[in-house]
Amino acid sequence: MAFSLAQLIAQRQHEQYPLHERYINPSFARVQGIIGFDKIYARGQGAYLWDIEGNRYLDLLAGYSVLNLGRSHPTVKQALQEMLSLDRPNLVKMDCPLLAGLLAEELVKRMPPGLDAVFFANSGADAVDAALKFARAATKRPRVLYLDHAFHGLTLGTLSANGGAAFQEGFGPLMPGFDMVSMNDLQSLEGELRKGDVAAFIVEPIQGKGVHIPTDDYLPEAQRLCRKYGTLFVCDEVQVGMGRTGRFLACEHWGLEPDFVTLSKSLSGGYVPVSVVITRRSIHDRIFKPLDRCQVHSTTFGQNELAMAAGLAALQVIEEEKLIENAAMMGEKLLKGLFALKERYEQIIDVRGKGLMIGIEFGPPRSLRLKAAWIAAEAAQKGLFTQLLVMALMRDHRILTQVGGPSVNILKLLPPLIIGDEEVEMIVTALDAVLAEAAQVRGRVWSLSGQLIKHALAR
Ligand SMILES: Cc1ncc(COP(=O)(O)O)c(C=O)c1O
Repeated sequence: MAFSLAQLIAQRQHEQYPLHERYINPSFARVQGIIGFDKIYARGQGAYLWDIEGNRYLDLLAGYSVLNLGRSHPTVKQALQEMLSLDRPNLVKMDCPLLAGLLAEELVKRMPPGLDAVFFANSGADAVDAALKFARAATKRPRVLYLDHAFHGLTLGTLSANGGAAFQEGFGPLMPGFDMVSMNDLQSLEGELRKGDVAAFIVEPIQGKGVHIPTDDYLPEAQRLCRKYGTLFVCDEVQVGMGRTGRFLACEHWGLEPDFVTLSKSLSGGYVPVSVVITRRSIHDRIFKPLDRCQVHSTTFGQNELAMAAGLAALQVIEEEKLIENAAMMGEKLLKGLFALKERYEQIIDVRGKGLMIGIEFGPPRSLRLKAAWIAAEAAQKGLFTQLLVMALMRDHRILTQVGGPSVNILKLLPPLIIGDEEVEMIVTALDAVLAEAAQVRGRVWSLSGQLIKHALAR
């Protein structure tokens, strides 16, 4: 019998949640049901998803920034289809494949000065792990510094550089020599660097968990201190790179010249796992130059031609469609609309972001009755108020958003970079409506809280 993917999907579409409950992650599947995200999506195009009943959803998760170009981009699709139809000699392994060379060339053109040596991997964590390994080998030093609230992935190495306890709990012991410093505290950073044993200081120029943005002087000064004490400075751009913040790299906002940049997520236009570490040739040489060490770090699927082809297409789309400029422009409009909401809703205590990487932070209301509801919700589970907003945005407006980290009241918006005025208007209008409801104890937003509190307490 011929294999038909379309037929298989049509026959078994309704089993997707039961299959996950049975074989993959029952708790995750249950959570989708509890928060009302258990949809059966049939199609994705641009900034939208459609479920099997034909309802349209605005996707502000964008696959956690994998889908900066929007879903099903025709140019990337065509590149992949062409790639398959050409029967390219993929993954020969003992050759130097063309497409990896071409993508490396394109990436280097977009880097700060001096970053000209490229290593391809498969995931964000994979790239960060590689950068930290390279930094240790190049400096012959053991330690790694990272920031509070940092997120660099969940492999054992990157988990050791995670700035929050929630992800680390239960997985220790973690890597020795990894130490956390506080964002914006240059004095303690210098105190650690001065010890002379720090291989790398790794930062996300804008943090994914909570959308924390450092003060303007912090990153340039941190970079200067790293240079002074011989520590390599790593900018993890896995989430904020590729145009999300209105620049190709977020570190451009501060004119940084790091020793390493890591990229992943939307590098392949949303189709194929891929990531990359870009560093200085002088650093790369210290690891790979001896001929017998030329493969001392590698990964089987790195440089695979599907990822490379998609990456070349994605970079062309970003340029041709001016997606970086659009992210900057739409981000400004969205922030303006959100600042206006902040004036009207006391529960918004902060709105922050650059380009289309935006966080909205909430705090307890002043009105006594509302405050009681807030306290009950937060006592059951920290961050539950924002979870209620996420649920209401989905239920009433068919908009996908997320709580921006474990136990925080921060709503995170990560739209694809293709959004226009219409989507900006939809987001602001929907948030306005949901916040107006949340301002009433008997509003529909709070009506969702009972079930969530029950589940939180049961845990
Ligand atoms: C800044 C940053 N680094 C690394 C990672 C890890 O990427 P992956 O999930 O592909 O391993 C993430 C994922 O969200 C990230 O945001």
